[in-house]
Amino acid sequence: MRTHQCGELRPEHVGQQVTLAGWVASRREHGEKLAFVDLRDHTGVTQCVVDNVVDVRPEYVVQVTGVVASRPADSLNDRLATGGIEIQDCVVEILNVAEPPPFPVSERADQVVETTRLQHRYIDIRRERMQRNLRLRAAVNSAIRTAMESEGFVEVETPMLVPSTPEGAREFIVPSRQQPGSFYALPQSPQLFKQLLMVAGIDRYYQLARCLRDEDLRADRQYEFMQLDAEMSFVDQQDVHRVIGAAVVAAAKAAGQDPGEIVRMTWLEAMNRFGVDKPDLRFGMELADLTAVFAATEFKAFAGASTIKGINAAGMAEEMGRNKLDGLTDRAKKIGAKGLVWLKVAADGSLESPVAKFLSEAEQSALTASLDAKPGDLLLIVADEWATTCEVLGTLRNDLGRPPVHEGPYRFVWVIDFPMFVGVDEVSGRPRPGHHPFTQPHPDDVHMLETDPMKVRSQAYDLVLNGWELGSGSIRIHQPELQSRIFRILGISDEEAQKRFGFFLNPFKFGAPPHGGFGLGLDRLVAIFAGEENIREVIAFPKTQSGSDPMTNAPTPVAQKQLDDLGIRVLPPK
Ligand code: AMO
Ligand code: AMP
Repeated sequence: MRTHQCGELRPEHVGQQVTLAGWVASRREHGEKLAFVDLRDHTGVTQCVVDNVVDVRPEYVVQVTGVVASRPADSLNDRLATGGIEIQDCVVEILNVAEPPPFPVSERADQVVETTRLQHRYIDIRRERMQRNLRLRAAVNSAIRTAMESEGFVEVETPMLVPSTPEGAREFIVPSRQQPGSFYALPQSPQLFKQLLMVAGIDRYYQLARCLRDEDLRADRQYEFMQLDAEMSFVDQQDVHRVIGAAVVAAAKAAGQDPGEIVRMTWLEAMNRFGVDKPDLRFGMELADLTAVFAATEFKAFAGASTIKGINAAGMAEEMGRNKLDGLTDRAKKIGAKGLVWLKVAADGSLESPVAKFLSEAEQSALTASLDAKPGDLLLIVADEWATTCEVLGTLRNDLGRPPVHEGPYRFVWVIDFPMFVGVDEVSGRPRPGHHPFTQPHPDDVHMLETDPMKVRSQAYDLVLNGWELGSGSIRIHQPELQSRIFRILGISDEEAQKRFGFFLNPFKFGAPPHGGFGLGLDRLVAIFAGEENIREVIAFPKTQSGSDPMTNAPTPVAQKQLDDLGIRVLPPK
């Protein structure tokens, strides 16, 4: 139905007869008899000069046949790839009429409330921004597939109706009609199946896998999302990092981006220097340890604290007035700090702060030196338990210094040696797994599993980009005895483990190879490459913050008959 696409024609085509097909982007009257019609498809727009008796309106679907001509000098448009030409002597065939669109098919739709965009997503996707994002996504997927396959990875599809698994997130469940009262879960990830594929000798598995989690939705979270999911046999952490790193680099290149170098850092270093386990390496303001500086302090807020750390918000003294400082203090307290000390460095290098008088001269000069403080700088200090101190200052550092996630340069980092356990389960009173319960402990720390579990490092790792967690993985436990040991520490008896994950554990008795893998969040990766703050912008049909789809109205009630078949009775809302 066409000889060219709407973004394709250039001055070298002048004189050719062509046929284009697409949507009417705009129509402008031109003198008494003619109209300019801009015809649009996903490649761009072309100006067509048509007889003004032709009744075409925005979003009509038309086919235009005419002759490519140079535009007169005064109507050249160098902002448009096709701005040097127009189509003249047009014969227009209307293929379909259209009602006026609910919002303009242009960047002006960015101002429209998002539910309206989502309600008419098929129109939203006609826009250049969405076309660019979805095509970028496809290019990234394709580059990742090629990269994985060139490393010998085999794509295997795993089921969507699975048993409940212990990965931490709340699951979506699906009632069974044939076994009323029994339920499938939708997979949080293919975790258990991919490990069984290693037992099965697949050796290198990958999948662009749909994962489902019933979580509170945010800018970087949807119920359904995609992972590059991979698992490898006979490998150590470095092997996994190398292939995933290569796939990410290939994806970046396909997106026209420079990924830079992927560095590596232990979890402990990330916490100590950046206060968070997903450090944003694009800016400084690193946490400095001040415990020694205040070891003998008389200032009671600092005395006796196990950890004292500070950050230097360089040059921010002036802009941070009393109100903003009170705001920072409130923020610090919400995260768990007992308080926040701030000091401003005056022009003469002296420290201005309500608490300066409690700090000795020696403390003040050691503080200034430790934080490399210069006139105009704002110093923020927290004294508390190590974890609280890190978390509070890490959050303030991000609040004060962090650029938008997609602003370059890219700083990828592998964070390794995560703790095996974090915190304590409220119900069982036992340690909670840091990654998931199938993660291999660090070989040097296995002896402390029972005696000092919170000190044990694991062979779990994250890939972080510009402060966003892109993915996680680990070397897994392949020895049944070690797995039972971990379950016992988590307060799961052999019996219960059998009941809950017997299907997964028993195969390990039949010759499980050492193995490890990774799950990379593709929506997040593509959003960053696309320069978007929200993953909804790179998903064709996402859910709103409240989990609904304004286009299909999902979720909806179902017919009573369907419920009866499933043996389900719906209680009135609480
Ligand atoms: P994890 O649970 O850390 O690991 O998930 C891996 C990555 O998936 C992405 N992600 C999400 N993206 C969008 N919306 C969500 N709701 C969402 N939840 C997670 C993140 C995250 O880093 N099976 C393990 C991987 C493994 O050990 O191999 C897993 O799923 O980018
Ligand atoms: P207070 O002694 O509680 O009156 O606190 C004096 C100042 O020290 C206030 O500015 C508090 O915000 C701050 N402060 C109190 N406890 C801490 C702490 N643990 N770490 C940092 N600052 C604190």
